[in-house]
Amino acid sequence: MPANRFNGFTDYGVGIGLRIPHYQHIFEQKPVVDWFEIISENYMVEGGRPLHVLDRILEQYRVVQHGVSMYFGSAEPLNREHLRRLKNLVRRTKTPWLTDHLCWGSVDGRYTHDLLPMPYTFEAARLTAEKIRQVQDFVEIPVAVENVSSYAEFHLSEMTEWEFLNEVVEQADCGILLDVNNIYVSSRNHGFNPLEYVNSVPAERVAQIHIAGHSEFKRYTLDTHDHPVIEPVWQLYARAIERCGPTATLLEWDDNIPSFDEVHREALKANRFLHKQEDLLPSFPSTTEPILEEATR
Ligand SMILES: [Fe+2]
Repeated sequence: MPANRFNGFTDYGVGIGLRIPHYQHIFEQKPVVDWFEIISENYMVEGGRPLHVLDRILEQYRVVQHGVSMYFGSAEPLNREHLRRLKNLVRRTKTPWLTDHLCWGSVDGRYTHDLLPMPYTFEAARLTAEKIRQVQDFVEIPVAVENVSSYAEFHLSEMTEWEFLNEVVEQADCGILLDVNNIYVSSRNHGFNPLEYVNSVPAERVAQIHIAGHSEFKRYTLDTHDHPVIEPVWQLYARAIERCGPTATLLEWDDNIPSFDEVHREALKANRFLHKQEDLLPSFPSTTEPILEEATR
């Protein structure tokens, strides 16, 4: 495998998600943005306003596709019609890589529209990797799988989540969309050390990173994407960049969406780590204890 097959997109910088409340601002103000992430499913249509908007965006900006319904971890076969429409969109956007979640969410053709956590077993890793390979072969561009946040775990798991991620991506020979906020959220819900997770990821496979804000609700930490990024998540991001080098980074903000400028400003905070301005880097703990304490509170 060429060393930079998945993380060679070092010039991508910092992107934000393309969201309807910002359309008018983007078309009128034409802000300078490194790239936009689109939700593929919103544009997998034959025509109409969604594609009209997308084509206007593509005239000026680079776009990367992110999917929410591939369900690599579901036991049933891939939906061929879905894949065909996805490939049409890939040709339109010229996305350099394609992302979707490492999860399941459908049974017998019924879709939950949820990103459900996997049982971390060798059998599940094998089946999931096989499907990722099939998708990668079909779309003919690199695929990167995203770690999801979770609130429950399977008793039958045979390994940790990060060992499972490693197992899947090695077998599938695919990339990783590393969501450091999801790692933090899950570490709080399950009591693991988020730094151990980030440290274990095969850095050469990280194509993209997600950062986001979240919420606390009773005894759970929820992946709500409705707040600025908190400092412990920036620390995990800093460590990921330290390990992976400059990596395409995307801020997710999907609820209580503020103005375009506010979202963009929050996203651009990532530049202090991407550009390796050493004086601005947080003093990263030599041991994992402070984050571990935070994570298991
Ligand atoms: Fe994400």
